[in-house]
Amino acid sequence: MAAILGFGGYVPERVMTNDDWSALVDTDDEWITVRTGIKRRRFAADDEATVDLAANAATKALDDAGLSAADIDEIVVATDTPEAYTPDTASFLQHRLGAREVPAYDLGGSGCAGFVQALDVARARMLLEPKRILVVGVELISRLMDWTDRSFCVLFGDAAGAVVLGPDTGKAELLDVVAGTDGSQTDILTLKTGGTRHPFNEESLKSGAYHHLDMDGRRVFREAVHRMSSAVGEVLERTGRTMDDVALVIPHQANKRIIDAVGHKLDITEDRVYINVHEYGNTGSATVPFALWEAREKGRIAAGDFVVLTAFGAGFHWAAAAVQF
Ligand code: ACO
Repeated sequence: MAAILGFGGYVPERVMTNDDWSALVDTDDEWITVRTGIKRRRFAADDEATVDLAANAATKALDDAGLSAADIDEIVVATDTPEAYTPDTASFLQHRLGAREVPAYDLGGSGCAGFVQALDVARARMLLEPKRILVVGVELISRLMDWTDRSFCVLFGDAAGAVVLGPDTGKAELLDVVAGTDGSQTDILTLKTGGTRHPFNEESLKSGAYHHLDMDGRRVFREAVHRMSSAVGEVLERTGRTMDDVALVIPHQANKRIIDAVGHKLDITEDRVYINVHEYGNTGSATVPFALWEAREKGRIAAGDFVVLTAFGAGFHWAAAAVQF
């Protein structure tokens, strides 16, 4: 059995509202609200980096589990905005938490699907050999994005979320996870510069290409709705459940219109879909674990509830997880 022993979430203190953005770029609250549902987001302080956010969420998850860092047997971090180019954020986190010299690795580059993919890997590793695995989703997008590009900068925020998985009886059971990839769609959401095909050079530095995200917003929208809802259907089928059994769906929080369209496709009322994108924006691989932690904190999840997580991200990747509280 793969149990979830503890949950953690963290957002930095600094709040950036839509009006704050309209003072910096040519945008306004109405455009952002109508297109995305986002009203505000959190940005890390100048002296915070990815591992600071990750460590805060991880510490809460450990506290919630009644464990210390010494009890952890493995660490997985999902992020596209790592502490450094190399080594991975998991190495920094292992040291920061004072964990033992356990396996630690990042799942990077899978965008906003990263955390649920990491759950898939961690669950499989845990069933192979019973152990306690810390799984973190963290992004500090504000540090790396182009603050002058109104098409992107208003969409994102910084956050971290974490769970501790273990073989013991926990607060919830991670029943199953499904995941998939359509690599023919790498072009619809990509940051090309910095890889070996388009290395950093003087030209990319001057043109700002190093932080330019290419996105076909409308195709991303369509794929996101299709893939997140079908992944939910797949994980329900594998666990022998139906939508009637679902107390809460926690989808990736990219924008409210995508979330509404997924809810519509799943034929589920809005009160059974967790939404916090208005408060935090799109925090990449952190949206799902942070929302899971927040939903519990706010009393939106009770003992006995069956909850489904679903996410999509650049790749194009998607994943869904079934959780029985
Ligand atoms: N404020 C005001 N105007 C803006 C802004 C802004 N912040 N950003 C873009 N515009 C303008 C554009 O320049 C364009 O102007 P033009 O018509 O004069 O050329 C106009 O608004 C329409 O731009 P579009 O990009 O076509 O706007 P669209 O209606 O498609 O909305 C959005 C953009 C919100 C990104 C939408 O495509 C969407 O929801 N896509 C889904 C993808 C998504 O949410 N991605 C987030 C990250 S991906 C992930 O989480 C995996």
